[in-house]
Amino acid sequence: MLELRHIQKRYDERTVLEDISLSVETGEIVSILGPSGCGKTTLLNIILGLVEPSSGRILCDGEDLTRVPMEKRGFNIVFQDYALFPNLNAYENIVYGLRNFPDRATKEEVADLVHLLGLEKHLKQSIGELSGGQKQRVALARTLVMKPRVLLLDEPLSALDGLIKESIKERIRTIARELKLTTLIVTHDPEEALTLSDKVLIINEGRIAQYAAPQAIIERPANDFIGRFILSQLAVKRDNIFRLFRVDPHAANARPNCAAAC
Ligand SMILES: Nc1ncnc2c1ncn2[C@@H]1O[C@H](COP(=O)(O)OP(=O)(O)OP(=O)(O)O)[C@@H](O)[C@H]1O
Ligand SMILES: [Mg+2]
Repeated sequence: MLELRHIQKRYDERTVLEDISLSVETGEIVSILGPSGCGKTTLLNIILGLVEPSSGRILCDGEDLTRVPMEKRGFNIVFQDYALFPNLNAYENIVYGLRNFPDRATKEEVADLVHLLGLEKHLKQSIGELSGGQKQRVALARTLVMKPRVLLLDEPLSALDGLIKESIKERIRTIARELKLTTLIVTHDPEEALTLSDKVLIINEGRIAQYAAPQAIIERPANDFIGRFILSQLAVKRDNIFRLFRVDPHAANARPNCAAAC
């Protein structure tokens, strides 16, 4: 279990994150959702160890990681721009991290991951020859071969559209389930957050606006901000969301909140 306790981040006099406390069960997918500038990337970087919190603690399976350097936390991130090596082909990118840690994954495990991500046909291609979705899958594979304890993804789907987006969403879900991998995903897209994750952490101006399962957020938004910012963006696709969670939009308990919000 990953735990954040009263995380606060200040830059000079400015407080960017305030009192962020939450627990993520092992194997859960959690989306971090909120408007631009609310502190999503800062929070992800604090969990990763790239940014130090001003106060508060980070624990994983009871171990205090707050002062543990990034490379010793066992967490790994896929950055929004993938950060692949352009001079290496897809396979060389995937196994790059194993050069220093050859015991992390066997050849069979790499092959399984390649299969899971549907990359068999692309292994010899150079990065420049890959589509956005293929690059995203190579970046995911490169991170996953290192067997992170926690997988962090910063806007993994924002550069993708339609079917590719759906396919990568499905793969992320499968990987989190099969590998029992705790996964945190930053997104500014409410539909993505609500359909992809077990729980959604909604941040507004550096504070937790709500942390709950998607259905609870849809049925019982905790405050006006959720209604205005999050659920109103779903207006057009509201019926799809309800179908996904098998909630009857006309049911007495679903209607009042959403009628107000959408
Ligand atoms: N190194 C820094 N020094 C000073 N202020 C910073 C620094 N990094 C981030 N901030 C500020 O912290 C706030 C949160 O930034 P952050 O990048 O976490 O937002 P975000 O939610 O990821 O936004 P976006 O959706 O636009 O990526 C912003 O107001 C930003 O200006
Ligand atoms: Mg960001």
